[in-house]
Amino acid sequence: MAFTIRRFEDRDAARVAEIMYESFRTVFGKMWEENETKGDGSYWKEHAHVETPTFIATSFVAEQEDGKVIGFLHVDANLKRGLGILHSIGVDPTIFARGVGTALVTEAEKFWRLHRMRKIYTCTSHVNRRALAFYKHMGFHEEGLLKSHFFDGIDEIQLAKFYSYDD
Ligand SMILES: CC(C)(COP(=O)(O)OP(=O)(O)OC[C@H]1O[C@@H](n2cnc3c(N)ncnc32)[C@H](O)[C@@H]1OP(=O)(O)O)[C@@H](O)C(=O)NCCC(=O)NCCS
Repeated sequence: MAFTIRRFEDRDAARVAEIMYESFRTVFGKMWEENETKGDGSYWKEHAHVETPTFIATSFVAEQEDGKVIGFLHVDANLKRGLGILHSIGVDPTIFARGVGTALVTEAEKFWRLHRMRKIYTCTSHVNRRALAFYKHMGFHEEGLLKSHFFDGIDEIQLAKFYSYDD
């Protein structure tokens, strides 16, 4: 399956909101439907790219040859602390397990390394076994647990990855 990774643009906002909704619904089902709405993408227009002297947030999308966006990733880099965060990633559920998530995180790794991040942090819900396997595949390891964090009864598993530099 041919796709490329590129920087998020405002025209992607509604589609990214849709992928976010659909991909996370595969994890949380009815609870997601009851607590979330697709949204119009305005969140993404506002937050996808933010830059200050000490902080950069950026977002990428995966795009098929026909122009259809099939995945997104939102990350940041705290330039003062050398700490990067993977905030959210989602792939069109009809295309899970075809390498799109790996390609998106690989692009983020270029961004983090360019900005000399020491450590990358993320978290995922304990029920999200697919994401847990995915993050471990990408080299993250478990660091801790946040009990009943975003939802009652659902814990967040904290994951991290450290980078080293030869020069
Ligand atoms: C998690 C997610 C981003 C992964 O994206 P993807 O494109 O499906 O993942 P990839 O095809 O790149 O998979 C890479 C590796 O992850 C692991 N993996 C992915 N899906 C898996 C599954 N269902 N079971 C076990 N391992 C899995 C495998 O190690 C896989 O490598 P392999 O193909 O060599 O076996 C995607 O499934 C998704 O959008 N999930 C819903 C939203 C979500 O959970 N986001 C993260 C929450 S914080």
